[in-house]
Amino acid sequence: MRIMIIGGTSGIGLALAGRYAAQGAQLALCGRDPRRLQGHALASSPRVSVYGFDIADTDAARQAIHDFGRDGLDMLIVVAGQYADAAGLAAQPALGPILVQTNIVGLVQAFDTAAELMRQQGHGHLVAVASIAGLLKDYPDNSLYSASKRAAIAICETYRKALAPFGIAVTTLVPGYVDTARLRELNGGDAGAKPWLQSEADAVRHMSAAIERRAARCVFPWQLHLTVRLFNLLPTWLRGLRKK
Ligand SMILES: NC(=O)c1ccc[n+]([C@@H]2O[C@H](COP(=O)([O-])OP(=O)(O)OC[C@H]3O[C@@H](n4cnc5c(N)ncnc54)[C@H](OP(=O)(O)O)[C@@H]3O)[C@@H](O)[C@H]2O)c1
Repeated sequence: MRIMIIGGTSGIGLALAGRYAAQGAQLALCGRDPRRLQGHALASSPRVSVYGFDIADTDAARQAIHDFGRDGLDMLIVVAGQYADAAGLAAQPALGPILVQTNIVGLVQAFDTAAELMRQQGHGHLVAVASIAGLLKDYPDNSLYSASKRAAIAICETYRKALAPFGIAVTTLVPGYVDTARLRELNGGDAGAKPWLQSEADAVRHMSAAIERRAARCVFPWQLHLTVRLFNLLPTWLRGLRKK
């Protein structure tokens, strides 16, 4: 199994990499700064290649996907994502285009490049990590992030239909809060107050099970999913009262 993980150098992507490494997969782990893997056991594995590029850089992403895909590409998992809340965007407006380039444009370009290779092979699996934020109407305080994840979910639906005739599956992973270093950093060092916070190991269990059964979409944990669905049923004025 040859798997490329864009956003595989930390957090959820690296945890997924550990799972597939244990199964003997040949892996390509990618991020903008490959030094993040220094000292990690996977970095020195002969079954792991490391690529440094920005998913928003079309040429660099294309080159890396073709380089690893030369010997076949069974699965591409796009985990890379940028987050900015309203305050962050107000302070640094340049973050908006970066977020869109990463979470939406980069995803589409990576899917297109990988799909080209997979069509030649006659099989393949594209996977994207979106977020439950993309399912919540009126997500407070960080609507561009939530809009980008909503777009990612919709893009996956489109690719699933378009690529099914070529034997290519598309799985959208839609997690709630996962206790990664990045989430802790965004929450002052401790994400413990987040509802139904899951460990990276729990997230990997959900994600890898969904990938294995080539599920169209996997939203977890169910408790947060149910809460979001109920919240979305509220009238707009009531949803607007939600604490920022
Ligand atoms: N943690 C959560 O609670 C949670 C919940 C729902 C959804 N998600 C989504 O899950 C994904 C991973 O989250 P995480 O918490 O694991 O974050 P993380 O630890 O920051 O991991 C992000 C990974 O993507 C890479 N990356 C970021 N921007 C990139 C770019 N422009 N080009 C290439 N690689 C890039 C990072 O490496 P470099 O920084 O070196 O590029 C890193 O390997 C994100 O898409 C996030 O929105 C997370």
